[in-house]
Amino acid sequence: MTIQQVDFSLLDRQLVALIADEADPLANTANFVGLLYDGIPEINWLGVYVLREQDLVLGPFQGKPACVRLPMGQGVCGTAASRLQTLRVPDVHEFPGHIACDPQSRSEIVVPLLLGGVLAGVLDIDSPYPDRFTERDQQGIEMLCGTFTAEMSKKAASAATGRTTGRTNGRAFI
Ligand code: SME
Repeated sequence: MTIQQVDFSLLDRQLVALIADEADPLANTANFVGLLYDGIPEINWLGVYVLREQDLVLGPFQGKPACVRLPMGQGVCGTAASRLQTLRVPDVHEFPGHIACDPQSRSEIVVPLLLGGVLAGVLDIDSPYPDRFTERDQQGIEMLCGTFTAEMSKKAASAATGRTTGRTNGRAFI
């Protein structure tokens, strides 16, 4: 299988433009997910899990309905979240404790989303192809997550000082 190379810097510019004029974290997270799902080929699921107490809870996503609550430290998402480290899994069947939401998924990448250095959630992407995600993909996806969380932090800071016209729910994240 040849996978077409993603133009991550184009996606990065599109992301900034897409969320520039809106303050609401839920709307911006939904569009972040939509942009990436549309822009990254050969995947079957992409979404955000949000940290709620000790669980990762399903947020905006594209793909089939998925597991709602993932415990910290378990599965690919919970392990990436507890280590604060990206996990790139070439074959999910080989990952001890992998939580199978869609049996079609064969490889996976999970990137922690940090706001001001604090864990807010993870971005999870699944592919039906083994070893779908390259080192280059990892770097590009981490860059997009970094841009997204930096923009969300700026918006939360503007909301706190009343320098924004949009409404937020008082949180930096959903
Ligand atoms: N496979 C993940 C669970 C989430 S679904 O892939 C959407 C995991 O092991 O954490």
